[in-house]
Amino acid sequence: MKFLVLPLFFLLATITATASRSSFPNPIHLLQSESSPEDHNVANATLDCLSWRLAVEANNLRNWAVIPDECQVYVGHYMLGHQYASDCKYVAGLAYDYAKGVELVGDGKDAWIFDVDDTTLSNAPYYYVDNSYRAKDYNSTEFVEWELKGEAPAVPGILDLYNKLLELEFKIVFITGKDETTLRNITEYNLKNVGFHTWEKLLLRDSTEASLTKVEYKSKKRALVVADGYRIWGNMGDQWSDLLGENPGNRTFKAPMPMFYLK
Ligand SMILES: *[C@@H]1O[C@H](CO)[C@@H](O)[C@H](O)[C@H]1NC(C)=O
Ligand SMILES: *[C@@H]1O[C@H](CO)[C@@H](O)[C@H](O)[C@H]1NC(C)=O
Ligand SMILES: *[C@@H]1O[C@H](CO)[C@@H](O)[C@H](O)[C@H]1NC(C)=O
Ligand SMILES: *[C@@H]1O[C@H](CO)[C@@H](O)[C@H](O)[C@H]1NC(C)=O
Repeated sequence: MKFLVLPLFFLLATITATASRSSFPNPIHLLQSESSPEDHNVANATLDCLSWRLAVEANNLRNWAVIPDECQVYVGHYMLGHQYASDCKYVAGLAYDYAKGVELVGDGKDAWIFDVDDTTLSNAPYYYVDNSYRAKDYNSTEFVEWELKGEAPAVPGILDLYNKLLELEFKIVFITGKDETTLRNITEYNLKNVGFHTWEKLLLRDSTEASLTKVEYKSKKRALVVADGYRIWGNMGDQWSDLLGENPGNRTFKAPMPMFYLK
């Protein structure tokens, strides 16, 4: 009997987690550094996917367009299994350790910047809709349809960090490349719905900013924040383009993201 109880508990925990609507898609699987041969067409079996992912996170590998074919399944297991959530929670913990040590001026101008897509709100449910562990290709029409649903769950660990930063009396500023005209309302709804209930500013990309690169756009928005008298103590994003450029902040924190690279 003892042998049955534990697996049953995990099964129930799994079903419960899956059924909860705005929870992060989870609960599977061990991570292998290379996809096993039966998982994919081994066009190139020599690429170590863990090395590939490390290169991505460290910004050693840049401007890549798609996950290499041989690492599709590996990245699927990474995202949908425990490791992505664990990495997110770890960076959130490091950010909190730093934030606790900041001596805030306390004039209402101590700011913390968060990116939105895949830093606070997760698009993993858009990329992974089936059980193949292969990310589907980005399609801007379909992606906007997904955004307009307002169903993105919170990125693991980041809501907890957000709440702790509010307790420390940081002013939260969201800067996102989402479109101002069509996506402000649903973005506000989605953020609030998963628990990001308040903020100092939520800056979206307007029509005059359409041609800017991500680095230029984010720098421009941060310059507005600084011109408004704020001190950017912390800045967290899943893309290096969130963290490079002008006024990056006194500390930057890179949230994990091996699904895409945005210049
Ligand atoms: C194999 O990996 C190398 C190094 O990442 C890459 O340049 C090459 O295009 C890959 N080949 C195939 C068939 O995917
Ligand atoms: C993107 O998705 C739309 C809507 O599903 C579809 O009509 C279109 O063909 C797709 N585009 C590409 C390039 O796959
Ligand atoms: C904004 O979103 C809310 C909640 O989804 C909705 O009730 C409202 O009609 C929307 N307003 C506009 C102007 O789109
Ligand atoms: C924070 O960054 C600003 C701008 O780079 C700098 O002037 C300031 O000295 C930094 N403060 C601390 C405590 O590191």
